[in-house]
Amino acid sequence: RGGDDDRIGGEVKLEPYRLYNLDVFEYELRETMALYGSVPLLISHQVVPSTWSSPASSSTSAVFWLNAAETWVDVAYEQAGAESHWFSESGIVDFFVLLGPTPSKVSSQYAALTGTTPLPPLFSLAYHQCRWNYKDEADVAEVNSKFDVHNLPMDVIWLDIEHTNSKKYFTWDPIKFPTPDKMLAGVASKGRRMVTIVDPHIKREDGYHIHDGATARDFYVKRPEGGSYEGFCWPGASMYLDFTSAEVRAWWAEQFAYTAYRGSSDSLFIWNDMNEPSVFNGPEVTMFKDLMHHGGWEHRDVHNLFGLYVHRATYEGLVRRNADHNARPFVLSRALYAGSQRYGAIWTGDNAAQWDHLEFSVPMLLSLGVSGITFSGADVGGFFGNPDTELLTRWYQAGAYQPFFRGHAHLDAKRREPYLFDQLTLDRIRSALRARYALLPFWYTQFYLASHSGAPVMRPLWYQYPTDPEVLTNQDSFLIGSDLLVRPVVHAGGISARVYLPGSEPWYDVVSLETFGSGAPSYITVSAPLDKIPVFQRGGSIVPRQERPRRSTTQMVHDPYTLVVALDSRGSADGELYVDDFRTFNYQRSSEFVHRRFTYDNNVLESLPAHQTQFQVDNVIERITIVGLKRLPTKVVLRQDGAESSLDFSSPTHNSIIIRQPNAAVSKNWRLTLQF
Ligand code: GLC
Repeated sequence: RGGDDDRIGGEVKLEPYRLYNLDVFEYELRETMALYGSVPLLISHQVVPSTWSSPASSSTSAVFWLNAAETWVDVAYEQAGAESHWFSESGIVDFFVLLGPTPSKVSSQYAALTGTTPLPPLFSLAYHQCRWNYKDEADVAEVNSKFDVHNLPMDVIWLDIEHTNSKKYFTWDPIKFPTPDKMLAGVASKGRRMVTIVDPHIKREDGYHIHDGATARDFYVKRPEGGSYEGFCWPGASMYLDFTSAEVRAWWAEQFAYTAYRGSSDSLFIWNDMNEPSVFNGPEVTMFKDLMHHGGWEHRDVHNLFGLYVHRATYEGLVRRNADHNARPFVLSRALYAGSQRYGAIWTGDNAAQWDHLEFSVPMLLSLGVSGITFSGADVGGFFGNPDTELLTRWYQAGAYQPFFRGHAHLDAKRREPYLFDQLTLDRIRSALRARYALLPFWYTQFYLASHSGAPVMRPLWYQYPTDPEVLTNQDSFLIGSDLLVRPVVHAGGISARVYLPGSEPWYDVVSLETFGSGAPSYITVSAPLDKIPVFQRGGSIVPRQERPRRSTTQMVHDPYTLVVALDSRGSADGELYVDDFRTFNYQRSSEFVHRRFTYDNNVLESLPAHQTQFQVDNVIERITIVGLKRLPTKVVLRQDGAESSLDFSSPTHNSIIIRQPNAAVSKNWRLTLQF
């Protein structure tokens, strides 16, 4: 939740939070009302300021209320602390108290109960191009080629509901999309993927194979008086599969087999929308609470779980569709519940092309992240309406640093593929896209770590600096892992940004390498004209990058890496790099991955295995930047494979050097020494 009235200890009495998954048309910000997803988790965080005799301390704990019925949570802030009252419409009282006492401990305790996000395939962390709708196969081919013509990296082209034959999911419009296999192959030939939308409402039409199959098996949600429930959604008269049944989910999963989903291929992935579920003619645009599910449960008992089950069944379908079950799925869902993180990504639904929607993407994604849902994003550009070029540019800059990065727009919105704008805007959006692609090795490593820890990849400042009272309400900035601090510009006309740099180590501007804030936490004001988003790397970290501009992640697999070593005040830093085949489960099944640890201490940068594996990659490190040096070296020597070589370097600023072509192997141990 966001907004200035949200102060801890403030006078304002908030309305209770309503946890009831709903398709809310043109949702409002600064509200505690129901929205597409709910996670009944309340995190409490307390800071005890320092005194003359003891440093500041903090404690973090949480309550997880395991109930999928409509739930209300009233949070009252008192002088002495906060109090919460919970109630659910049905079910039993079943809650967990997570004792922390740190934010990361709460994450791991919560992950032990609900799971973590499995490592996504690399392409899904890159840029996605969507709109409602790409009109036909020629339109898709044009988008595919225009991104290349304008040197814009992009990994996935999406098709919304109009690609189907009259909103019958798993089918194609015979006029507009007559040869989906050819279209997919054309996109795949550039190393790109596609996503189609598959919603859980089923058109009631005899002869539609999904409807026929579901009817024959009696798989639909039932009316209390008996018989299948019929509602209204995109296709008109629609039926709703009962995803709470394991049998229905297994059958749904089979529909993603290549033989069942005609025209699909292994480069096609899935988007589940309207799974709250959305029923246009139902109460509050969802199902009646007295509808009946498998096992005699009323809809009221399981409502908030419905979307998770749709997401899960689709995820399982994409695992099973390859005979060896070895390709990692990608599924985007709109509805969510505690545990949805196990099945893929989610997005914040139908936002608007307005500055405050851009601003609120940050607190919304941060809240999702600390609730376990770490692979999340907001429609870049805003779904409803038409962003001007300034808003669009700022949105691309922010989205490039948020976990799920997709441009999307409403059917009635003007076309807004980046190449349709003036040269300056196009150049700025290209830089934002390239900034994302350059950091993909870092993103991928962070997602790998999160798949074990359950920690959010995009995290609030208090998560990393829990004893600093100054960051408690900060939601204009965020961290990626612990190493990058991002402060998007989210107001019209912004040309500078006030940034709080936490901790007692320096922070370095990722573009200029300028050094800020050594010694103590501080506010700084930095210039941020329209071609700049302030992003800082933490002193003490080593961030891996891949800087060659490519059309998609497929072309980056063998590319060399860059390491950016940002020194802390003691002249040390460390970091990690995780690499595998980027798309299969072999990293789990047969340890086919490389996980390296880099440390810099006493003028020596060293690469050692973080995990011992047999797997090898052929990539090398083509550049090493070291920033935060107290003095510049006279010589840099690399020791690898028992041989020593002296390396060329330059110094772009008074405290940094760039070492060119060290050609240190990613898979090998090596040592680099600075001599003075
Ligand atoms: C919903 C989705 C939106 C999609 C539209 C048509 O409004 O949230 O993303 O474009 O349906 O499928």
